[in-house]
Amino acid sequence: MRGNFLNWVTVFSRLNCKCRSNSHAFTTSLRGKSYYVTTPIFYVNSQPHLGHLYTATLADVAGRWQRLKNGKEVVFATGTDEHGQKIQEAAAEEEMEPKSFCDKVSGRYKDLYELCNIDYTDFIRTTDTRHKEAVHAFWKILEDKGYIYKGSYEGWYSTQDENFVTELQTKISAGHRISIESGHKVEWVKENNYVFRLSAVIDEVKTWARQNPSCVYPAKFHRVLLENLDAMTGDISISRESSRVSWGIETPSDSTQTVYVWLDALINYLTVAGFPDVNGERFQTTWPANCHIIGHDILKFHAIYWPAFLIAAGLDLPKQIVVHSHWLMNRRKMSKSLGNVINPFNVANSVSGERLKYFLIKQGVLEHDCDFTHHLLLQSVNGDLCNSLGNCLHRAVAPKLNPDQIYTNFYKDCYPKLISFSDKASGEKPSGLINLVQKLPDDVNKFCEDFHFYKAAEAIMECVRESNLLIHRNKTWRLDLHNARDKKLNDTALHCVYETLRVCGILLQPFVPCIANDMLDRLNVQHHERTFLHATKSFYGYGNSAEACPMTGRKLGKNRGVLIKKVSKIKF
Ligand code: MSP
Repeated sequence: MRGNFLNWVTVFSRLNCKCRSNSHAFTTSLRGKSYYVTTPIFYVNSQPHLGHLYTATLADVAGRWQRLKNGKEVVFATGTDEHGQKIQEAAAEEEMEPKSFCDKVSGRYKDLYELCNIDYTDFIRTTDTRHKEAVHAFWKILEDKGYIYKGSYEGWYSTQDENFVTELQTKISAGHRISIESGHKVEWVKENNYVFRLSAVIDEVKTWARQNPSCVYPAKFHRVLLENLDAMTGDISISRESSRVSWGIETPSDSTQTVYVWLDALINYLTVAGFPDVNGERFQTTWPANCHIIGHDILKFHAIYWPAFLIAAGLDLPKQIVVHSHWLMNRRKMSKSLGNVINPFNVANSVSGERLKYFLIKQGVLEHDCDFTHHLLLQSVNGDLCNSLGNCLHRAVAPKLNPDQIYTNFYKDCYPKLISFSDKASGEKPSGLINLVQKLPDDVNKFCEDFHFYKAAEAIMECVRESNLLIHRNKTWRLDLHNARDKKLNDTALHCVYETLRVCGILLQPFVPCIANDMLDRLNVQHHERTFLHATKSFYGYGNSAEACPMTGRKLGKNRGVLIKKVSKIKF
C-alpha cells in the first residue's frame, strides 16, 4: 500500500511538470523590454539541495507573475558554474574527467527543475562555447580600457568559496586558518595573476549603492552592502595560474592563466542576454537584468564586484538584486557532516514538486533564515492546498449541491440572507467575502512586486477559508433544492464560492500552476479568461446588475474526481 502511494505521488508530480504558464504564446509575440530574472549558477561539486531549489522557486514565481500581471516576455536564466579549483578537485576525487563530471551533475539540476516544473527559459553552463566567447570579449573590453594589469598576488584563498580574503577576515579554528565569514579553510597562495583595478571604480559603485536604496533588496541586505563597501580597499586578482587551476577559461592572450571563477561565473548573466552582440535585438531587449536573485552569502560578488566589472566595461547595471536568507533543518545549518541535508528529489517525489515549491514560498521570508520541518511541510501542503483549497472546490462542485453542474446564478435579493462570514473579515456583514475578493488582486500584486510571496499566498488562502465558511455557516447541504427559495439561496452561495475560486485560481497560477489549472478547468474558465485583468472583475451579478456575469449558466468543467489528495507520508 505504501509503495503504491509513493508510486502514485511520483506519477502525480511528473504529470504536474507538463504544466507550463499558459501565457507563453501570447507574450512571445510582444515586443519591448523583456523581464529578465536570474538565479545564481550553481556549483557542480555537489548535488542540488533544497536551498538551490528555493532560489529557483523565487525566480520561477517572479517570472510567472510578470507574465500574468504584465503580459511580459520573461527571460529566466539559471544554470551551472563548472570551472575552478573546487570542481577540478571534486572531479579528481571521483576519478572522472572534469567535463564528464560536470555533465553528470549539471544534468541533475535539469532533472530537479523538470520534477518541480521550474519554468526557466535558458539553462547556461560556463562550459558552453557561447559563454567562453562572452568571457573573452568581456576580458578584452576591460583590458582595452586599461582596467587589467599584471601583478603578483600573495594572500589567503578559500577554495570552497573560490575567494581571496585578507588576514583580518580569517581566524584560527581547531588548528586551521578559516574564513570568518564562511567558516571554510583558507590556504596561503602566492602567484602571478592579472589584477582588476577595482580601486578605479569603487567610488562609482558606492554612489550607485547609496543613491539606489532598492538596488539591493530587502533593506536589511542593502545595509550589509553599505557596510561592506566601506571596508573595501585595493584591487582584486581576476586570474589564476593554469598550473594550479587548469579547469577554467584561459585568458585571451595568455595561456598560462585561467580566468578567476567568479568573473567567469558572473558574466553568465551577459551571455544569456546575447553578449557580446550588444547591438543585437536580444541584448537590447534583455539587458540590464531586472532581477538577480541570490543567497546572502554571495552578496559581495553580486553587489560589489559585478557592478564594478560592469561599470568598467561601460555596461548598464542590473536593476535589482534580491537577496534571500538560508534554509535550516530543524533550526540547524544543513551540512553533510551533520547528515541533515534535505534531498529535494526525495521530498518532491513524496509530495509533488509543485507542493514542495508551495511550501518553500509559504514558509520562506527573505530577511530571515527559514526552517524546514516535517510538520510545517505537511501543514502547508495539507492545510492550505488540500483542506482549504481542495475541500472548498470539492464541496462546491459536488453534484449533491449542484445537480445541474452549472455555474449557478447570483440572486441579489438572496445574498443578504446568507449568514455572514468570519467576524474579522466582515464584521458580520455579508459583503465581507466580496470585499476581500475584490481587493485581492491589488493586494497580491503589491505583495508580489515586493517579493513577499508568502503574504500573497496567505491573502489568497484567507479568501478560500472565508469561502469555506460561507458553505459551512449556511449549511447549504441542508437546503431543499426543490424549494424555490432554498434553491435560490443555494445558487447564490455557490456562485460566491465559484467566483472566489475563479479569482483565486487565476492568482494562484504563478504559485501552483498545475493545481490552479485543474481548478480553473473544473470551473470551465477558458484559457483566455485567466489573465490578471479577469481576476480584477468579480461578482458581476452583485456589483452591477446591468452587467451580466459571463460565467453564470455555463456548464462546469469535466468532473475528474478529487483534485488535491492529502499527503500522509513524506519520504526524505
Ligand atoms: N556558483 C556560485 C554562484 C555564482 S552566480 C554568478 C555559488 N554557487 S552555490 O551552488 O554555492 O550556491 C548557489 C546559491 O545557493 C547561493 O545563492 C546560495 O546562497 C544558495 N544556497 C546555498 N545553501 C543554501 C541554503 N541552505 N538555503 C538557501 N539558499 C542556499 O555560490
